[in-house]
Formats: sequence, structure tokens, C-alpha cells
Amino acid sequence: MTYTTVRSSWRLSNLLALALLAGAQAQTVIPAVIPTLPPPSASVAAEPIGDSIFPALGQAGLDVLNYDLDLTVDRPGTSELRGTVVLTVTSTQPLPVLSLDFLGPQVLEVRWNGLPAPYRHDQVAGKLTIEPPEPLLPGTRAEVTVRFAGQVGVRPDPDLPINVGWQAVPALGGRVGANFTLSEPDGTRTFLPVNDHPSDPATFTTRITVPAGYTAAASGVQRSEVATPNGGRTFTFEQAQPIPTYTLAIHVNRFERVDSAGVPVGEGGADVIRRDYFPVGVPADTRDAYVSTGEILKVLADWFGPYPFSAYGSAIVTPRIPALETATLSTMPVTSSNVRVLVHETAHQWFGDRVTLADWSGVWLNEGFATYAELLWAQAQGETGDDMVRGWYARAGRSQTRPLVATTESQLFDTTAYIRGALALHAVRGTVDDTAFKAYLRGWVSGFSSQPVTTADLLTYTRTRLGAKAEAALRLWAESPELPPLPER
Ligand code: TRP
Ligand code: ZN
Repeated sequence: MTYTTVRSSWRLSNLLALALLAGAQAQTVIPAVIPTLPPPSASVAAEPIGDSIFPALGQAGLDVLNYDLDLTVDRPGTSELRGTVVLTVTSTQPLPVLSLDFLGPQVLEVRWNGLPAPYRHDQVAGKLTIEPPEPLLPGTRAEVTVRFAGQVGVRPDPDLPINVGWQAVPALGGRVGANFTLSEPDGTRTFLPVNDHPSDPATFTTRITVPAGYTAAASGVQRSEVATPNGGRTFTFEQAQPIPTYTLAIHVNRFERVDSAGVPVGEGGADVIRRDYFPVGVPADTRDAYVSTGEILKVLADWFGPYPFSAYGSAIVTPRIPALETATLSTMPVTSSNVRVLVHETAHQWFGDRVTLADWSGVWLNEGFATYAELLWAQAQGETGDDMVRGWYARAGRSQTRPLVATTESQLFDTTAYIRGALALHAVRGTVDDTAFKAYLRGWVSGFSSQPVTTADLLTYTRTRLGAKAEAALRLWAESPELPPLPER
């Protein structure tokens, strides 16, 4: 069902990807002796989560607690990937089958608590269906192991001329081949079997083995770096706070890692580990913006409360793509290496990565807050911010507007999500003083960090925290078919 939806929204620029997909499928070889499931009968068909924009994603009732990844990139810059994933899972309802999102490499083996389990991998639907010996019951846990190898899957972005998910950057000029993840909204399933929805964030342990001369980076804190017999290295990272699947960062490149002094803005004043990764050979001035990272963390933590993870920094990539708020390690193109974009992606660490979406229709809750952070940063630099607000309003006025809750895939990252979303928060701020507004932002983060959010949640929270006038302002900006008038401040 998703496939049809996706196909109908494909644009001309994605025809190339379509050709690649067809090629990849033609090459698929089915090994003979693996246990496979017959097509699931209606009685055991798994129900998806029921996202209003992506109705086929995820499995209702499935709760993945941790992903333990052991990945090997033998030829960086290609789409080849092999590895083993161990998912620690539980459920909120009895599940007779497990249904993971997976477009990716060919499945070689599936185990359920260590024993071989029957499975069926439908690479077109992007579902890996696994049959446990007993239904997975609430209150119980299981370890599900999936081993895979081959070419990653292809998922065209609905709006941009790119494929989301595992990126392959071929060697070019003096530069070696590289790989990285760029997965919003549902690209992680191109290379990992996952419950690919932000309403089921999980912790990750990521182990990556790369050839000689390469460095791997990933979301979380690096725990070890071990040499392999053939001159390569295995890097291990631990992401101990749950994050949505699309925010998982993995990078393989010839990197220089730059460590900076910790920033004391973590929980209870703990130091946030600071590291940035620059590909060897990027222009020297690419680094300029990242000198401000510590100061950005301080300004944002003052407004939003403690930084919610253990480490923060950026991994710089060379293709001309949009920046992405990958958890603890923003993915920053050379061409977007400026402070304003960095502020935006850093703010997403609170809004999107820690406070996660219950449904993709609420994506303005990510983009509106991250855009609003650009104003908070400008004001912390001594600007009034009036120009920025007027600029936003003019821009919103020039584009088609709509209520904040998105109803189609192509609305997810439009001007309304970013700009009208930011203006909605500005309208709330206009009803109270800044002390109250700060407490409101901090309370949203601390109260909803482990509870995926909707626009209705924010409206209720706004009334409870700031009163009826603030709620009415937000409701007007959230629901009016027209662009409301710019609030005076
Ligand atoms: N969330 C990103 C931002 O605002 C934008 C984005 C949406 C994106 N989809 C993407 C970036 C896909 C890269 C790939 O910062
Ligand atoms: Zn954003």
C-alpha cells in the first residue's frame, strides 16, 4: 500500500532512482535453504502503526527497546553493506508475528532468542515478517537477530531530488568514497530492519568496521576503536537515550576528528562531550561555523533546559543536500556550514530527537521549534529579531498557507511547517513574559521527552501552563485556514 502511495508522488527527478531500484531487484538471488514463511494469511497479518501520512510504516503494538548493530562497510562509496542487527523487543499487545520495515540488503538469517525462526522478506513492500515460536506478549522481551548482506534499498525523497537512507558518495577528484545516513522521514529501513516510526524511539549500540584509512562515526558516545587483522578498524558507539530511527547517524569517510572542551549544559550540569568530524580535504573555512557550537549549546540550553544527550557535534558531508538533525551528530553539508543552519539542527536535538513525533502530520512541532531557535539565537547576539520575524511573515504571506497539521506527504517540510510553525510559537510568546515563555519551553521538553507528541498535546499543555489566552493564540495559528495577522510585541 505504501508503495503505491510512494510511486504516485514520485517526480521526474526520481526516475533514475526507479531504474536503479529495478536493477537492484533483478540482481537479487534467493538462497535455497533458508526457512521462509508463506505469504502471511489474513489472520496473522500485522497491523501497521497507522501514521496518517505513512499508513504502512511500523507495527502497531511493537516496542523496540534497543538496536544492537554490527555493520561492515567493505567498499566505502558503494551501496554494499553487510551486518547483523539484534533487536531487543517487547509489545503492548500480543503479537503473533513481528513485522519490521526493511527495504535493505538480502536477509541471510533470522533468529528468535538464538534459535532459527521462519521469515519472509518482501523487498517491494519493504516488510520483513518474522514468526516467533510463541506470540510476543506484553511484559515479555525477546531478542531478534537479523543477518543481511548486499545492496541497500532505495527510497526516493518525496520532495527533494535525493534518495533517503544509506547514502553512497563515490570517490571524486582527490576524495575517497564515503557513506552516511540521511534518513528523514523513513530512510533507515533502506539499510536496517527497524520499526521505522518516530513514535517508537530506541537506544542504539552501533559497531562499524571500515577498511584501512577510514574512520567511522555514529550517534552517541564512542566506546572503543579496535584494529582489525587486515588493517581496518572497528568503532563502537553507544546511544544510551532513546532516539527515533530516522535520526540515527552513521558516517564512513576519511575524517579528521576534532575534539573540543566539554560544555556543562547536560542534565545536572554534566559536561556534554564535543566532537566534530571533517572529511580530509574540505576547504579550511568550512570549519569556521563549528567554533560556535559550544556557545549555541549554552544559549539553547538556557531556553530549552539541559541538553538531552551525552555528546554533540557535526559530521560534515560533501554532497549538496539539506542538513539533517541526526542525534548527537548533526549531518552538515559543506554548503550549509553556517551558524544559522547549525543553530537550527542543534535545536532539533531537543525538538524532534528527544521530544519525538506521535505522527508525521505533526512535523511542524519539530520544524517550528527549530526555526524559532534561530530567532532566540539572534536575540542572544543582541539583535531585536524584528527583521527576522517580519521576514518570516512576508515569506509566509508569499506562499500558500494551511493549518499546521499536515495532511499530505508533500506538506511535511513546506514553508508552513517551518515558518508558520515558528510564527505560531512567537504568537504564544506574545501573550506572556519571557520568564514564563522559557518555563513553558523547558516544561514541554521535560514533560514530553518520553511521550511522543501531537499538536493537540501542545494545545492542552499551553492552556495548562500559560492559560486560555496563550492557548487561543496557538489555536488560531494552528487551525486558521488563512495566515493570522502578525502579533504586536
Ligand atoms: N529536518 C531537516 C531540517 O529541517 C530537513 C529535511 C527533511 C531533510 N527531510 C530531509 C534533510 C531529508 C535531509 C534529508 O533540518
Ligand atoms: Zn529542521
